[in-house]
Amino acid sequence: MAKNNKLELTWAGKDAQISPEPRILLEDKKKSYGDQDTENMLIHGDNLLALKSLEADFAGKVKCIYIDPPYSTGNAFEHYDDGYEHSIWLSLMRDRLEILRNLLAEDGSIWISIDDNEQAYLKMLMDEVLGRQNFINNVIWQKKYAPQNDAKWLSDNHDFIMVWAKDKNTWRPNLLPRSEEMNARYKNPDTDPRGVWKSGDLSVKTYNTATDYPITTPSGRCVNPPAGYCWRVSKEKFAEMISDNRIWFGPTGNSVPSIKRFLSEVKQGLTSMTIWTYQEVGHNQDAKKEVIAFNSKDVFATPKPERLIERVLTLGSNEGDLVLDSFLGSGTTAAVAHKMGRRWIGIELGDHAYTHCLPRLKKVVDGEDQGGISKAVAWKGGGGFKFYELASSLITKDSRGFDIISKEYNGDMLAEAMCKIMGFKYRPDKSVFWKQGQGTEKNWLFTTTMTLTEDYLEEIHNDLGNDSLLICCGGFTGNKDAFKNIAIKKSPRPSWKNANGTSQAILYL
Ligand SMILES: C[S@@+](CC[C@H](N)C(=O)[O-])C[C@H]1O[C@@H](n2cnc3c(N)ncnc32)[C@H](O)[C@@H]1O
Repeated sequence: MAKNNKLELTWAGKDAQISPEPRILLEDKKKSYGDQDTENMLIHGDNLLALKSLEADFAGKVKCIYIDPPYSTGNAFEHYDDGYEHSIWLSLMRDRLEILRNLLAEDGSIWISIDDNEQAYLKMLMDEVLGRQNFINNVIWQKKYAPQNDAKWLSDNHDFIMVWAKDKNTWRPNLLPRSEEMNARYKNPDTDPRGVWKSGDLSVKTYNTATDYPITTPSGRCVNPPAGYCWRVSKEKFAEMISDNRIWFGPTGNSVPSIKRFLSEVKQGLTSMTIWTYQEVGHNQDAKKEVIAFNSKDVFATPKPERLIERVLTLGSNEGDLVLDSFLGSGTTAAVAHKMGRRWIGIELGDHAYTHCLPRLKKVVDGEDQGGISKAVAWKGGGGFKFYELASSLITKDSRGFDIISKEYNGDMLAEAMCKIMGFKYRPDKSVFWKQGQGTEKNWLFTTTMTLTEDYLEEIHNDLGNDSLLICCGGFTGNKDAFKNIAIKKSPRPSWKNANGTSQAILYL
């Protein structure tokens, strides 16, 4: 039990929270592909830094997050390490989940793949991050179809997908489409103009004397409900249903009556169950086959099947919504989101961002990827994505060990970095040089390494009108309080803790 008497999960290092530097993202135009106007983003780099850098622009905008983090199994896979010590895994996840929560839309949801190693801990961790009241369900996905006979204990045939809403009161999942097999159960033996129908029971077990009455079939037979049962509807309602041709007495008019349930009147979709079988959404071997199709020499070890992600995105998003996966692996979520007409952001740390995600997504854009869900959604190609790398840190050390601005940063990069640090959106105006970052509608940020004068400020002030401006500059001479809607910061001191949680960078312009 924690100090404040609240039940909570604790672990070594829980209190050492880091606040990462919000880096800028640099587009690698040679790797971006397809439609130039696309909003889809493929990002190579550590997801903590990448998520932090997305926060200023995308907070509250992501409708559906799916992540499939390393499960902390102790394995060292070829493309990534899954051997984090338990407490380190919890800290790594907590820091990322907190930013993911900020990115989620108010009516958004987050879906996390996990197995027995960390499932219980993840539940408690996420209950802290998103609130226990926002937990939706723990879905069981049958990842293997055959028993693993060499298992020492039990054959582990399922993973979990744990689901939280940002706000359970607001969020509702979509329905799943009805399968052709289900629809095929509806027939039309009496050529009813309302179309195909299926018969449903007229009798129910919750007994009520008022609805226990004899019915005479068209053939003249008298029928009563089975012992202990009654009819579902009153005598009057039954008469109405007869005159509306909604009761079926079989082809010869001699059968026990049943209700005609028309396909056109049933719910046009299915409520998802919490057990997802491999027949419905694929299994591990399906996923392997899908990734072999675009990189057979270097097969990614732990992909998810496209149909599994399709199920998640069907329930959690609609066409045009923004979907995010910050543990992208071989690129499955991005590929599926693309084919389903969602906008997407994918982040991957490993070189497989180049060797797997990039070629896979190019094939998707070109319409050459006909595996996975392509046929089911009649995918023909189109769209595009932009490829980004994380910029290096804004701060570096000079020869005497002092923190200085990295020489890799040109004026534009510096302006963008300052926007991220100060919480402004980077929106450089083509004609007004000091409109670089936008806070609220009438609130701007301008960054320069120059030493400014009061005259210089007066010129800006003449154009500023009722708007307000924050200037981060190398220096200033004169009365810096001369204009009430212009604030000067000579030495802004944004600070962030490095990954080891110790050092604080102080920025002097
Ligand atoms: C289980 S795999 C995801 C597989 C993916 N769902 C698929 O279908 O291919 C986990 C991925 O997370 C990536 N990863 C681990 N730590 C990361 C980090 N800090 N930033 C970004 N990616 C990371 C690994 O490189 C690995 O590719």
